[in-house]
Amino acid sequence: MRILGTGSALPQKQVGNDDLSKFLDTSDEWIVPRTGIHSRHVISNEYLEDLAVSAARRALDDASLGVADIDLLICSNVVNEYVTPSLSCIIAAKMGLACPCFDINCACPGFIYAMDMADSYFCCGKVRHVLIVCAEEPTRMVDWSDRATCVLFGDGAGAAVFGEGDNLKGIRLSAEPSPDKICEMRRLLPTPYVDKEETEMPMQMKGRDVFRFAVTTSARDINDILSRTGLSLDDVDYFMIHQANLRIIDGIRERLGVAPEKFPTNIADHGNSSSASCPILLDECNRKGMFKKGDLLVFSAFGSGLLSATAVIEW
Ligand code: UT7
Repeated sequence: MRILGTGSALPQKQVGNDDLSKFLDTSDEWIVPRTGIHSRHVISNEYLEDLAVSAARRALDDASLGVADIDLLICSNVVNEYVTPSLSCIIAAKMGLACPCFDINCACPGFIYAMDMADSYFCCGKVRHVLIVCAEEPTRMVDWSDRATCVLFGDGAGAAVFGEGDNLKGIRLSAEPSPDKICEMRRLLPTPYVDKEETEMPMQMKGRDVFRFAVTTSARDINDILSRTGLSLDDVDYFMIHQANLRIIDGIRERLGVAPEKFPTNIADHGNSSSASCPILLDECNRKGMFKKGDLLVFSAFGSGLLSATAVIEW
């Protein structure tokens, strides 16, 4: 498969570090050196589904395709206001898409997990065009009095349209299941029969463990996938790393020994938007005209699960 178009949409409200220190025991001086984040886009009066639809429409426009051309919609999402139907159904209804659609919840690497699924559909000839939409509102998952988590996240949606081609050179999905490392729990509705203890808990994260997992797994998988596809680090034009923390991105880059120019980032004014981060970065780089035909892009992302995923795709 190959990328035909990209799109993204962000909430209007931008919250700077100094805004946070008005109600939280934190500071720009703590946040910037440890994360690289100066501000983040936060959902206020918008609905996530509308951001998702805007990102998807922009991706279709960029690909010069209409809704009737799309054979499958995959939406990557961790949480939104609907329990059912899936966010992909909400997006499809708003856009007038009538193709099969489903959601995946693979946390931050969701874009690459969705690419892996799309690739399978292309390989068995079931589709000609696939729309992937990643829409996330992690700012609704954190406790806003917990300075260790709420300063890290931002919201948004990113989308990409894929068509037939042989541009996907390789993909590797990894898992190190440890549900306690990043975890949020919600209580379901009571019934006359449930008498077990149930927990409701905003997002908790073992930040240092996640940091270590991200750097080691991502660097290992990038090296592994390049050697399996007969490519070298020098062949890669851009490393599109999940925008979780600038220090994580720098850690991966240092392990690989690659120049910073090959690592585009937008974390400074986005924060971590979970699975939306890679397609938002992709769209922003695309709209800046950074990519030329034949450029080799490596995507790598990691997060709750713990899951991680890496893909090599030619522009
Ligand atoms: O998509 C993947 C999602 N996960 C991530 O991106 C997280 C990966 N992990 C990280 O990025 C880092 O572990 C953090 C940025 C989350 C934390 O950095 P750290 O250097 O590992 O700090 P720490 O958690 O060990 O905390 C050090 C101190 C603590 O104070 P004490 O116990 O030493 O007195 C924290 O309470 O910093 C304190 N602290 C803060 N202080 C000011 C934690 N958060 C803040 C804050 N402002 N926002």
